Amino acid sequence: MPLVTQHWQELEQKYYMRTFNRQPVVLVRGQGARVWDEEGNSYLDMVAGLAVNVLGHCHPAVVEAITRQAGQLIHTTNLYYTTPQLELAELLIENSCADRIFFANSGAEANEGAIKLARKWGHLQRDGAYGVITVSNSFHGRTLATLAATGQPKYHKPFAPMPDGFSSVEFNDLEALKAATTPQTCAVMLEVIQGESGVHPADHDYLVGVRRWCDEQGLLLILDEIQTGLGRTGKFLSFEHHGIEPDVFTLAKGLAGGVPIGAFLAKEACCVLTAGDHGSTFGGGPLACAAGVATIRTIFEENLAGHSAEIGEYLLSQLRALQAKHDVIEEIRGLGLMVAFDLKVESAPKVVAEALKRGLILNPTGPNTVRMVPPLIIDKAEVDEAIATIDSILESL
Ligand SMILES: Cc1ncc(COP(=O)(O)O)c(C=O)c1O
Repeated sequence: MPLVTQHWQELEQKYYMRTFNRQPVVLVRGQGARVWDEEGNSYLDMVAGLAVNVLGHCHPAVVEAITRQAGQLIHTTNLYYTTPQLELAELLIENSCADRIFFANSGAEANEGAIKLARKWGHLQRDGAYGVITVSNSFHGRTLATLAATGQPKYHKPFAPMPDGFSSVEFNDLEALKAATTPQTCAVMLEVIQGESGVHPADHDYLVGVRRWCDEQGLLLILDEIQTGLGRTGKFLSFEHHGIEPDVFTLAKGLAGGVPIGAFLAKEACCVLTAGDHGSTFGGGPLACAAGVATIRTIFEENLAGHSAEIGEYLLSQLRALQAKHDVIEEIRGLGLMVAFDLKVESAPKVVAEALKRGLILNPTGPNTVRMVPPLIIDKAEVDEAIATIDSILESL
């Protein structure tokens, strides 16, 4: 390992919390779908900051917006009106089924806000109901409430007891969800495609059934679009594939092209939060929102959802061709540019480490599963490059 990389590794080990198993590279620059380490080596980035760099790295529209806004007004408070916040609010509301928005700083915070809204709505509309039903293998964030909403007990254990008011049922099992519904339930919370667990889609009939059940029972449906939203799956919001509308949905990740941001959006009928109920020092700040306006405008102007659908289909077809060649690929899943493949052996971390050495960034979501959530601007030649590298690695596995 280069001495300079070793230096940064030593600093990390000495000073940083032991929260990350990092890959042994120090990334210093990015452009389009590529990043460079301090040695000058380049990497094709099929992970995009974990589904964040939707326009790729340092997209000129985002750089221009941040630079302009930084020279004008970086921060003030939500006690005053600011223009980027309201422009971004208008863009998102006019292009979705929601009526109102609140801006936060991360996905977990967006989901926390959605849960708070659902609880207050339950207090007012359902006789104090506060329970949220979530599903197995979901992922909604790392704060205590969003961890409790995350249906993965391994994440709960070190921090028990979890906050009250969350129950988890089997994903894609409508009867289980019905059975878990009680008078105390106020909402159901789901991802349309589970990302963190390795790209597992909800069945169409299940989603339609959940929407109908929520309508019949008078429950709010909260959809977490944090990883699936903003064009990644081939539609601006992934629930659009299923002809359903949630009461509440959440966004974060790519919403400001790489600048921290989150948001929850809701239909008017459940917008029960009033002054003092919720707030944020940084949420909806001018810098993040200016980056957000540039990002969302670019997504629409360049039809990146359509591009995502097309290139995603190409990526899936190329992976299927690899599967025909390499028996070790067990299953391929995905929609648009949210894709994963399972191996028959527990070699996903090895494949990812080897890919890095060969200039390709992939993400293991488990011992068998490799995930790809590249920038939405990725082109066919870049997909071919990724596939060729994966091919050569599987050859030698
Ligand atoms: C579906 C989903 N919800 C919530 C989160 C949490 O977002 P953040 O890490 O910005 O808090 C993530 C992060 O991976 C996610 O994929």
